[in-house]
Amino acid sequence: MSAHTLLHIDGHLVRVKTGSSVAAALRVADGGGMGAARTSVTRQPRAPFCGMGVCQECRVLVDGRRRLACQTVCAEGMRVETTE
Ligand code: FES
Repeated sequence: MSAHTLLHIDGHLVRVKTGSSVAAALRVADGGGMGAARTSVTRQPRAPFCGMGVCQECRVLVDGRRRLACQTVCAEGMRVETTE
């Protein structure tokens, strides 16, 4: 098993440690920033908060299907889209 996994986030290639969650990959893609997963109805950025599948703030599309970033492990070639 490779030590790293490559995936796409909003069309950008991102390299993370194998076994990382998509929530962690969002932060890597954001240069260690908040790693927004979506925007709220008032256009505010929303990022993973609880990290355990409760708050629903980390909703993204993974290969076209709605997923929780904190509950999804990155896979090689995965395509993640942040949402509105
Ligand atoms: S961070 Fe709360 S559900 Fe994913």
